[in-house]
Amino acid sequence: MKTVNVALLGFGTVGQGTFNLLQMNQDLIDHRLGFRLRVIKIYVRTPEKYKVTLPKGVSFVTDMDSILNDDSISIVVEVMGGVTFARECVEAALQAKKNVVTANKDLLAKEGPYLQDLATERGVDLRFEASVLGGIPIIRTLYDSLYGNRITELIGIMNGTTNFILTKMSEEGLSYSESLKQAQELGYAEADPTADVEGLDAARKLAILASISFNRRIFFDDVYVEGITTIDQTDIRYGQEFGYTIKLLGIAKETKKGLSLNVLPAFISTKHPLASVRGAYNALYVKGNGIDDAMFYGQGAGSLPTGSSVVSDIMEIARNVAHESTGMFKPFFYSEKNLYAPGKIESSYYMRLIVENSTGVLAKVASKLAEQRISVQSVLQRNEDENTATLAIVTAPCPRSYILNVIDSFNHLRSVRAVGSVIRIMPE
Ligand code: NDP
Ligand code: HSE
Repeated sequence: MKTVNVALLGFGTVGQGTFNLLQMNQDLIDHRLGFRLRVIKIYVRTPEKYKVTLPKGVSFVTDMDSILNDDSISIVVEVMGGVTFARECVEAALQAKKNVVTANKDLLAKEGPYLQDLATERGVDLRFEASVLGGIPIIRTLYDSLYGNRITELIGIMNGTTNFILTKMSEEGLSYSESLKQAQELGYAEADPTADVEGLDAARKLAILASISFNRRIFFDDVYVEGITTIDQTDIRYGQEFGYTIKLLGIAKETKKGLSLNVLPAFISTKHPLASVRGAYNALYVKGNGIDDAMFYGQGAGSLPTGSSVVSDIMEIARNVAHESTGMFKPFFYSEKNLYAPGKIESSYYMRLIVENSTGVLAKVASKLAEQRISVQSVLQRNEDENTATLAIVTAPCPRSYILNVIDSFNHLRSVRAVGSVIRIMPE
């Protein structure tokens, strides 16, 4: 019986999940493929730290060359993370005509198009299902099951850590820092959680999904990003009064004017399907001209769920190896498209102003909004004390640039003491 051999680079959360799933389901996988699929080498820097007994025929190695020069290995799986060394390894594997699977969104959001071109040039496959939304099979869905659709919009909850934090703050009234601490203890957050809470992790994932969905070379730097660090309980409570819940959303939308790419905290109606995505779960809402609306939901991280996506890539490539058809299909395919500046995006907005508690203040605020052609949908006023009140305002849809202009004019109005926050509202 034919055997396709695999090497893993990395044996942490995802590497072990991949290995364990391949072991657990070995008979089933071999049966489904019609040939044997085996991991034979695992590259790590410090083998002694792994307290596992590897099955016969599998060994830890500490030099990459023993993988690159091993002609019996046709698939290399990069699950180390980081950009510099991972890029060197992936590039060297592709140059050595080895097929590559990676879960590394940081690397792909920066170098994905280049690595894809290199793979095609070398006649091998590059696959990366696990790089976005962990265990949710979304990448192959976009370039395979939905390939006959013109995708018009992607809206996703793409980061488990921030969704966990916002859920805890909204449902249990926990503070931002307490919620973050719990996310770290549960292992959802990256070692340095900056990439999670500042929206960078979600932006990398959006860049990968949008590149496939809209056939344009999209890099991390093309995405407008805001994180969740300034969201506080007050806004969450006002949002709830208006019928909204808050989520960190990745949004890619194609319009006649171009493609807009944003990661930002936004209010969505509590009736929207994404509002029910709680805790560390992820989801992607896809709009296409054939499928209409579809939502994909599941575990965005974790050992076995992410391993499941890696294994699916390994199996797809193994089939191509067995049929000698690697390098035939590339998920990234490009044509030129304009990017649409974030300032032009139209949307409703929520604004919280701290104002003087005196007669005529509401009229002054309303006149500034009118000067900027911003129409108001709802207003809530709460008197904080004798001298101060809070105004929570929901606007009708308008370009973001109008909102930036009105904030500037509020900053020059003596009766507005502070602009507490401004949050975008997604249409229903
Ligand atoms: P871990 O930190 O748990 O594991 C990294 C592994 O790589 C370790 O076994 C480490 O072993 C090995 N390694 C070898 N060389 C290097 C090197 N130069 N630098 C760093 N590590 C090295 O990472 P994860 O398994 O969590 O993540 C792996 C990849 O999967 C990342 O790209 C991540 O973004 C992605 N991912 C992770 C998800 C998750 O749920 N954790 C979900 C989706 C994607 P040693 O130290 O012994 O060398
Ligand atoms: N830190 C990431 C998250 C892990 O919270 O979603 C999965 O990419």
